[in-house]
Amino acid sequence: MKFKKNILCIGAGYVGGPSMAMIAYKCPDYRVTIVDTNPDRIDAWNSAELPVYEPGLDEIIKKTRGKNLFFAKDIENQIKENDIIFVSVNTPTKTFGAGAGKAADLQFVEKTARQILEHSQSPKIVIEKSTLPVKTALAMERILASAKGKITFEVLSNPEFMAEGTAMADLEKPDRVLIGSRETQSGLKARAELVDIYARWVPAEKIITSNIWSSELSKLVANAFLAQRVSSINSISALCEKTDADISEVARAVGMDSRVGSKFLKAGIGFGGSCFKKDILNLVYLCNYYGLQEVADYWESVVKINEYQQDRFTANILGSMFNTLAGKKICILGFSFKADTGDTRESPAIYITRKLLAEHAQVVISDPKALKNAAIDLASDKGKISYIEDPYSAASGCHALAILTDWELYRKLDFQKIYKSMVKPAFIFDGRNIIDHKKCFDIGFNVYPIGKPALSRFEDQSSV
Ligand code: NAD
Ligand code: UGA
Repeated sequence: MKFKKNILCIGAGYVGGPSMAMIAYKCPDYRVTIVDTNPDRIDAWNSAELPVYEPGLDEIIKKTRGKNLFFAKDIENQIKENDIIFVSVNTPTKTFGAGAGKAADLQFVEKTARQILEHSQSPKIVIEKSTLPVKTALAMERILASAKGKITFEVLSNPEFMAEGTAMADLEKPDRVLIGSRETQSGLKARAELVDIYARWVPAEKIITSNIWSSELSKLVANAFLAQRVSSINSISALCEKTDADISEVARAVGMDSRVGSKFLKAGIGFGGSCFKKDILNLVYLCNYYGLQEVADYWESVVKINEYQQDRFTANILGSMFNTLAGKKICILGFSFKADTGDTRESPAIYITRKLLAEHAQVVISDPKALKNAAIDLASDKGKISYIEDPYSAASGCHALAILTDWELYRKLDFQKIYKSMVKPAFIFDGRNIIDHKKCFDIGFNVYPIGKPALSRFEDQSSV
């Protein structure tokens, strides 16, 4: 079959896989190929067990894979054969050299640009889908401009706003699609070509265009604003715990103001995930780089509050359990950074588990999708942790439960049954405020929510 357009995506990760699967699904007359330097990832995408868990992804892959969606390893050939190339490689925080701990590590993006340069035999549109510091497109353009002969490249920015766990719904009905380009004739032409792809299923008014730098910066700022809301509500949860105010009631009252809005006001153990922290630190780095110290400090405080919230949570466990956890068994319910994903990158659970181990607690981890990743994250603590998928077996014989992920299944657990199997006095630390606290207290638990008065039989010992 002859396809109308040939699209390539370099990087078959959490973004490349789902976002390209959606394009293939919505555009059956386009051929979409995804490549990756990691051959195991490509094999997994071609197998029955996909490397990424996302509700609804399996169905779309079944409908498209082998028809107009392909996962391939021959990167060089694919660059030659495709005219539109998305770059969706990882952009982690730099761990070495200048800017270590804050700046984005752009080595994978730059390698990709050089690969495209080396293997292209015809003009291409190169689209930044990875999240990048503002002005990265300039470096891309400079590398690609060194092409010999007449090959031209147009660089666009098309950041991805999907969230994990809801990726397929976000991709199918995005709040907006953002496309940034140079405002030259060729830039506008390339931009129109990308608009055409999304226009297949996204309403015209939701496809917005801008200059390329605004597009790059908007992505960092969007994540910074979202994370800032989480840190804002978490900071207030600390005050609630001191004053007997209830964070859910405060969030509801504040969020009902339509100028504020109700989303992203759930207090918890702090944000995790591969992007919020890295993108804010990147923003902080950029502000410092441009001499904007006050602006840098302002955004860095969002990350500091996030760390504070995780410290507060573990300190509360220690303080409430009579200031010693040595030899006590603590069951962690939920290890992924949020519900409906197996992703554990930057999950608060990693940090909290390490803190509990440092107190010589015995840790049992339960999660419906993330146990494999949890065991990799905590490989250096092998032998000190048990991994048990069934929450009832995991909780049995434990002194405390710590709910760290907002999986729906935890709301529906039979806490009476769990209580019977635990060591008494039994404790619950609900890091996501998702269970019925009063009911659990009546069963016999001592219950410690976030930002709400504790329901404890040892009230005087609960302060930290
Ligand atoms: P990921 O680590 O899951 O995937 C990136 C993939 O790129 C890896 O499989 C890696 O092997 C591959 N890769 C690296 N260099 C390569 C090269 N030169 N050639 C071919 N493949 C190469 O990362 P991700 O979560 O998909 O994130 C990718 C980008 O998207 C990041 O910039 C991230 O900030 C951004 N983003 C992520 C999300 C999310 O929910 N995870 C959402 C929006 C934006
Ligand atoms: C986030 C953004 O929501 C996406 O728009 C963006 O594309 C993506 O980052 C990215 O660039 O990677 P994601 O990290 O997948 O998506 O998930 P979120 O739903 O944003 O949750 C992030 C963290 O904040 C989770 O740990 C979650 O539990 C926490 N959170 C979220 C709260 O603690 N409270 C809330 O009210 C909302």
